[in-house]
Amino acid sequence: MRTLVVDHPLVAHKLTALRDERTASPTFRRLADELVTLLAYEATREVRVVPVEVTTPVATTTGCHLGTPLPLVVPILRAGLGMLDGMTRLLPTAEVGFLGMVRDETSLVATAYANRLPEDLTGREVFVLDPMLATGGTLITTVQLLADRGAERITAICLLAAPEGIAALNSAFPGDDLTVVCAAVDERLTEKGYITPGLGDAGDRLYGVV
Ligand code: URA
Repeated sequence: MRTLVVDHPLVAHKLTALRDERTASPTFRRLADELVTLLAYEATREVRVVPVEVTTPVATTTGCHLGTPLPLVVPILRAGLGMLDGMTRLLPTAEVGFLGMVRDETSLVATAYANRLPEDLTGREVFVLDPMLATGGTLITTVQLLADRGAERITAICLLAAPEGIAALNSAFPGDDLTVVCAAVDERLTEKGYITPGLGDAGDRLYGVV
């Protein structure tokens, strides 16, 4: 697995505001959206493109456009939904699939409770959106499901990651097919499974405690 921590002052600035417990949901949603767009810029650095001819008012030259099959964006419900607009702003022609994951609190195993993904993902580049890479359980199950359907290059975009989650994903997917892009890798997980210092429960900060 490759890990890319995006080192940029605007990323750090927005992340700091997201961490602040005083940041209310409307501002949190806007900042998360902006931060994802910055992360997506780095995450799409190797997105597949094909050359095309373009005629400018002055001359003809070669440019490029996105190759096919088009990339697939997969937000993990619920908190990943808060990252969707920020991602599709940069990749407006990407298709979007949805995955709802739930974790059994005893076995800690994550399973899909909602799955709206194409059956065949052969050759597909997939961008998974999940704000918090904590234990890695949800992402391991998700990446395995996508790989089983034929996804080729999978990139997980997270706002924050814990070292424990990075290590778990890395041992599950030691090759280069998976990349994790995040704004920071924090200290560790607490006993309750929160990333510390973190930003709290991303779903609650985005949408409130429901
Ligand atoms: N999920 C969250 O929303 N926050 C954490 O700190 C860990 C997992």
